[in-house]
Amino acid sequence: MKHTHYIRQSRLFCMYRNHVLDIGPYLAGRKVLELGPNKGNLFEKFYPQSPSYTLVEPNPHFEKFYVKLQRRHRNLHYRICGFEEFPADQKFDTIVMMAVISHIRSMKADAIVDKIDTMLNPGGCLIVETNNSRRNLGVFDLCEKRFQKVVAKPSYGGLMRQLKIDYRDVLIYKKADA
Ligand SMILES: C[S@@+](CC[C@H](N)C(=O)[O-])C[C@H]1O[C@@H](n2cnc3c(N)ncnc32)[C@H](O)[C@@H]1O
Repeated sequence: MKHTHYIRQSRLFCMYRNHVLDIGPYLAGRKVLELGPNKGNLFEKFYPQSPSYTLVEPNPHFEKFYVKLQRRHRNLHYRICGFEEFPADQKFDTIVMMAVISHIRSMKADAIVDKIDTMLNPGGCLIVETNNSRRNLGVFDLCEKRFQKVVAKPSYGGLMRQLKIDYRDVLIYKKADA
């Protein structure tokens, strides 16, 4: 499936989302894993600030974008597979899942949170954006119990929020230090 005109990955919209989100401090200097990055545009401005940034995306259509991004960012890695298939044998300081949770169809909420927990270093952060869908909402309840919530804010502000076209929220959770 192609997502060539997906507005949330357009340059201006990514600039807007970055402005509202202000999540640089959770990416800079950290080993980052981003699930379901689509074209990989949203956090490109932070790639140079991370020692290692890994994109994991099941849609092979996006591979060509990652190959291009890798020419600019030598620390960028990618793997074409879903969250379900990605091996949990590495640990990360930050895991990013923007509007991805509800796309994970073959895992139950507790298995999703267990896998995230396994891949997060102590003191690490999970950045999640809700989807406009109810599937896997249990993930958010489990995250509330297992991690400390440090940020909760609407994905969109001002006019975008008032238009109510999209009513997502961004949540940042911190895993306890060792
Ligand atoms: C709603 S889009 C969000 C894209 C991007 N994160 C953003 O915020 O602009 C959902 C993305 O998740 C990817 N996706 C779908 N199923 C997935 C899975 N099982 N594991 C990881 N990513 C998945 C889709 O291909 C798509 O790129």
